[in-house]
Amino acid sequence: MKVLHVAAEVFPLVKTGGLADVVAALPVAQAQQGTDVRLLLPGLPAILEQVSGLRCVIDIGACFGALRVRLLRARLPGDGLVAYIVEAPYLYKRGGSPYQNAHGEEWPDNLQRFALLGWIAAHLAAGDADPEWAPDVVHAHDWHAAMSCAYIADHAATPAASVYTVHNLAYQGLFPMHDWAPLGLASRLMSPAGLEYHGQLSFMKAGLKFSDRVTTVSPTYAREISTLEFGCGLDGVIRSRSAHVRGILNGIDTAVWNPAADPAIAASYDAARPDGKAACRRALQTEAGLEIDDAALVVAIVSRLTSQKGLDLVLAALPELIGQGVQFAIQGTGDAALESAFRAAQAQAPGRVQVFTGYDEARAHRLIAGADAIAVPSRFEPCGLTQLYGLRYGTLPIVRRVGGLADTVVDASAAAVAEDRATGFVFDAASPQAFAQAVQRALEARRQPALWAQLRARAMVQQHSWEGPAREYLALYDEALAPLRADGL
Ligand code: ADP
Ligand code: GLC
Repeated sequence: MKVLHVAAEVFPLVKTGGLADVVAALPVAQAQQGTDVRLLLPGLPAILEQVSGLRCVIDIGACFGALRVRLLRARLPGDGLVAYIVEAPYLYKRGGSPYQNAHGEEWPDNLQRFALLGWIAAHLAAGDADPEWAPDVVHAHDWHAAMSCAYIADHAATPAASVYTVHNLAYQGLFPMHDWAPLGLASRLMSPAGLEYHGQLSFMKAGLKFSDRVTTVSPTYAREISTLEFGCGLDGVIRSRSAHVRGILNGIDTAVWNPAADPAIAASYDAARPDGKAACRRALQTEAGLEIDDAALVVAIVSRLTSQKGLDLVLAALPELIGQGVQFAIQGTGDAALESAFRAAQAQAPGRVQVFTGYDEARAHRLIAGADAIAVPSRFEPCGLTQLYGLRYGTLPIVRRVGGLADTVVDASAAAVAEDRATGFVFDAASPQAFAQAVQRALEARRQPALWAQLRARAMVQQHSWEGPAREYLALYDEALAPLRADGL
């Protein structure tokens, strides 16, 4: 089977969040299982600079406001997968993030930038972009790639199925309705039954309405997004597709996140030989300027700083927790108000709180290896990857019971501990008190070395490689393709 993943970011070339980790690791797992996988990416400078063997597949000329568009082919670093890259300097050759300028404002031409990506995906699927290769399945990730599904659906004879994965329903790709002309789509699609969302154009809706299958990145989030509370205004659309919506839990790249062979951390360790973790803990306390205190519970946070992540709960609970013997090592970037609030918290409690603002992969590994626990108190969380990294590194997750967090962490209740299933601390209410109580339970547990060792050992043997999820996607692709095959397409 031939599969084309369409996405705006891929680790380590361009990454703003977990999407990049998924887009890097899932295709590799699929290739290892014998699937013929390729990627389609926008020609952002960091992508063009880091791939090898670039060659032109087709010269497209002027489209979507860009004078010169070419489809290139190259190999990704590392595993060497084939990637198609849309070269359109006018649209993609700029600094900032894939979505925003350096001041955090959305690029004003995002409609053209990401419609082009989907339009080319549909041409690859139709077999008229690369004479040598056409996918059976186009797997589009998040709103950036969602227009692939609309363009494929608009050309009924396309012999490919589309699968759309929602990594985060909160980011929808909304544009003014009057901008629809450059999309070149049939006007019947510009209705509430199509892309229109309350008078705007919604790329997210293109994926939700026109894909053959919708997936999201955990079973619980798949259920949650069909409710008013988590549906971000699209719960009705999700419910209307309920027979075709599936939750497939993300895996992690077990080569990149492996405490037994992690070049970024002070000492190696694993479930069978956990001793190196103590050296990582000391190294973190030293690097972060935290008091060298064996009794403290060192809590790490590695996160985008946005309201999604519930970090206001941490800020509110922090003074009380510090007084009780908790240390915080936080790395995050994003919302300026949250950044300055965390800096203020650090100024109030030097030696107990350290905040690293900015993005630093290697330091993320050192925080996760060195801490006793990792907090992910999200308001909503489609999957969440840092709690999975925490499990593998024996850094017990303290999480809110939502989305993928609920699916991956087993609370250390008396029953779960007795059955040796517990892997962390889970709380329900989105309140500072509930968060504080969960941290206090972790502090208590750490004071009982046998219990702590048991929880840590159970956490470290959890299996979250991509092997299982890759097979689940493959089965889903078969399902999505079945009607096309029956029609002889
Ligand atoms: P989301 O995609 O919502 O941001 P995830 O937990 O799925 O949340 O993925 C976040 C990814 O980004 C993880 O790989 C995490 O380690 C990484 N990350 C987040 N913030 C930072 C940061 N400031 N520095 C380094 N890595 C970060
Ligand atoms: C999104 C979600 C996160 C998920 C990631 C990868 O950014 O916020 O929960 O883990 O995508 O699927």
